[in-house]
Amino acid sequence: MRSGILEKFILVTVILATMAYPWPVSAVESPAAAEHGMVVSAHPLATRAGLGILRQGGNAVDAAVATALALAVCEPYSSGLGGGGFLVCFDAETGKVTALDARETAPLAAHRDMFVRNGAPVDSLSRDGPLSIGVPGLVRGLWEAHRAQGRLPWAQLVQPAVALARGGVPVSQMLTDRIAEEKQRFNPAAREVFLSGENVPQIGMILVQEDLAATLEAIADRGPSAFYTGPVAQAIAAETAAAGAGMTLEDLAGYQAIWREPIHGRYRGCDVWSMPPPSSGGVHLVQMLNVLEGFDVGGAGIGSAAAVHPMTEAMKFAFADRSRFLGDPDFVTVPVARLTGRDYADSLRSLIRSDRSIPAADIPGAPLVRRESAHTTHLSVVDAAGSAVAATLTINLSFGSGWMATGTGVMLNDQMDDFVAAPGFANAFGLVGGEANSVAPGKRPLSSMTPTIVLQDGRVRMVTGAPGGSKIITTTLQTIVNVLDHGMDALQAVSAPRIHHQWSPDLMYFEAHGLSPDTRKILEGMGHRLKERIPMCNAQVIVADPETGLLTGASDPRGMGEAAGF
Ligand code: GLY
Repeated sequence: MRSGILEKFILVTVILATMAYPWPVSAVESPAAAEHGMVVSAHPLATRAGLGILRQGGNAVDAAVATALALAVCEPYSSGLGGGGFLVCFDAETGKVTALDARETAPLAAHRDMFVRNGAPVDSLSRDGPLSIGVPGLVRGLWEAHRAQGRLPWAQLVQPAVALARGGVPVSQMLTDRIAEEKQRFNPAAREVFLSGENVPQIGMILVQEDLAATLEAIADRGPSAFYTGPVAQAIAAETAAAGAGMTLEDLAGYQAIWREPIHGRYRGCDVWSMPPPSSGGVHLVQMLNVLEGFDVGGAGIGSAAAVHPMTEAMKFAFADRSRFLGDPDFVTVPVARLTGRDYADSLRSLIRSDRSIPAADIPGAPLVRRESAHTTHLSVVDAAGSAVAATLTINLSFGSGWMATGTGVMLNDQMDDFVAAPGFANAFGLVGGEANSVAPGKRPLSSMTPTIVLQDGRVRMVTGAPGGSKIITTTLQTIVNVLDHGMDALQAVSAPRIHHQWSPDLMYFEAHGLSPDTRKILEGMGHRLKERIPMCNAQVIVADPETGLLTGASDPRGMGEAAGF
């Protein structure tokens, strides 16, 4: 067995303790403070990989590449070489913000009705196994980011991930839980790597991924051609072709990462830069901030009905628009300027009543017929020059499609599930929609990922983002509001309880202890329908003091990540 679970214990108890608990271990160290650079990610070993690159003289893009590749090893359930992502980069020297789209792409054999059988969508086809796999974008995307803006040699950035894959990663509570939840979806190659015999590995065992180490080494030596052509590409194509799906060597060789015009907005005197379509994140983040700018959210106070009510209404408007207008901009015309414009925000704000919630049914939209993943990962970096990267990365559902390309160690995404599987299909309410995000060959599925950089007077004020499907956008929104309106530091901003509304269903979700009973009563009196739910998202945030430039960072206590700087 070249990869798998080793039953040995690492004696570095600090590392084991950090891995063992999914709750606030990272908060012990957070908010980390630093003058020269900081990395925050969802896994301590990935954060340390990125920090090491900053210490070696790497810039923010170098550190983001190293952190992303390390996350692919440490969090194989969230992101990886078989997935994709988006990067928003700020270059302090030029003052320019750029956005890189490394989203997975539908294979050329994909077609509009590929997930429909007997007139109805079949969820398992777009979530499990070969039909669910989009052409991976991560490797080409990281290479392209480094080619354009990196400083250190590429191979140096891949080395920490190789070392983690070969040396092994201590099995965490989170990894054990995720394997237990998903193992029935694994193909034989994934079972061999992630199970200990037939069993779920226990905390403290070591996950060694030798095949992944070899794949990473090839990528270190030969760049993306080692992934998109040759034996790795052949293994991916063979894995999917054997099951009757159509990802070909041509699909893989043809994959391109795309630089796109970032979304820009202004909020409380700051510039907000985020990801454009095919992510919906930046558009709706700016749309919601524009609406909220007209309310004294800070004066109302966190968790108050006066702050929560307009935020919820803004969320409803945004998600209704998302369902109607958002899709891959290379295939559909997305009205970005209108949705992110001040005039549109003014018109939406004028509809918000101070005493009553607008029923979601009164806001026009197309039905959200797809469930969205709660998984994915995010990293935030600031370097010594003040440049920054926000990157959100994913293989979609936990462990993606559940399929590993045999002999490569690469878990393959199930990003095809982010398309609307059956546009034109009436939902339970008889509504029809979703054409903008229907499947087509070469098209990129709509995302919610919202990697975001906030600048004040041309310098980094915040770097933020989160995993969590549709809740990514509302979580990122709240981290920004927590800092700019409520004056929180990084740890407070990621820890504060969250709400979420996505227009359909017409429910305001809130985390336990997030809203006081009297606040809930006021909101219910306005017509909001409230529902308590489990903790939402795993945000990774850096905040810079506008006076001193001192960086503070915090990894969400809902996860097991770490902020570290120097
Ligand atoms: N698959 C999660 C997202 O792209 O939003």
